[in-house]
Amino acid sequence: MQIITTAREMQQVCRALKMSRTLGFVPTMGALHDGHLSLVERALAECDAVAASIFVNPTQFAPGEDYEIYPRSFEDDCAKLEAAGTTLLFAPSAEEMYPAGATTFVEVAGLGDRLDGASRPGHFRGVATVVAKLFHIVGPERAYFGQKDAAQVAVLRAMIRDLNFPVQLVACPIVRERDGLAMSSRNRNLSASDRGRALILHRALHAASKLLERGETRAEALRRAMLEVFASDAEVRVDYAAIVDPSTLLPIADTSEGALIAVAAWVGSTRLIDNIVIESLREDKLVLESHFMEETHV
Ligand code: PAJ
Repeated sequence: MQIITTAREMQQVCRALKMSRTLGFVPTMGALHDGHLSLVERALAECDAVAASIFVNPTQFAPGEDYEIYPRSFEDDCAKLEAAGTTLLFAPSAEEMYPAGATTFVEVAGLGDRLDGASRPGHFRGVATVVAKLFHIVGPERAYFGQKDAAQVAVLRAMIRDLNFPVQLVACPIVRERDGLAMSSRNRNLSASDRGRALILHRALHAASKLLERGETRAEALRRAMLEVFASDAEVRVDYAAIVDPSTLLPIADTSEGALIAVAAWVGSTRLIDNIVIESLREDKLVLESHFMEETHV
């Protein structure tokens, strides 16, 4: 695996590589876990070569958020990416990505202010900006993102469409721990007791999926069931429990035509997110739902 730290060299190497091979791209902020590696695996299965990036992007953290304490484990990450078969790793410094005087940003209006964008003002502006820059540097045919960050997927799909990026976004399923907790770099910042508490996000989604199984499609009933679960632990602070359209991220009243059920909560000082996607109520109804139930041993 070749490690590159400057945008210019990465651009040159990627351009040369693409003359003869298709290139998949997996952007990350490091502290890698099996969720990240599942994206690399999928990219390797669908492309001739895979570039990953590790960059803890300062512009997507608001002042007072966890930029300083975001977990960093570069050596370990390199070993994991290498073992997974990654071709190229782009690992720039903050100065390389944001040279003094940089004032250009990408803003996905509307979508960027919903869900995580509502509680983290400026977050999606930072995400869209850095991903646009990374797309220009790497120029991949396909880019792989996790469905765990469902709002991020919606925002980036809109950006790709609106700015005519010649890249296909591939959204990949959430990888979970055996007990159901969605894997996240931030899980490393949880104390032992908060690690136990963190399961509440999964339990809330599970309560909603139980209701769905019984035929409930009213968003308000599902939301109430999730909020009841959250209310059972006074030390967890809910940010949102939302039932929205997966593309617009706007609230919907009924899940029959499909929905994104997304939760975010503060467990101690760590903010965690999780979600499930409900397919439209037809023959293939609740496909993802039953997958969620089986996979996680609730
Ligand atoms: P990061 O949180 O490191 O995540 C990198 C990619 O891994 C994202 O696409 C995310 O959705 C995916 N991912 C994280 N946990 C996952 C899980 N449990 N299962 C499947 N995929 C998972 O998301 C970012 O970084 C940044 O915002 C970034 C896109 C790199 C821009 O800075």
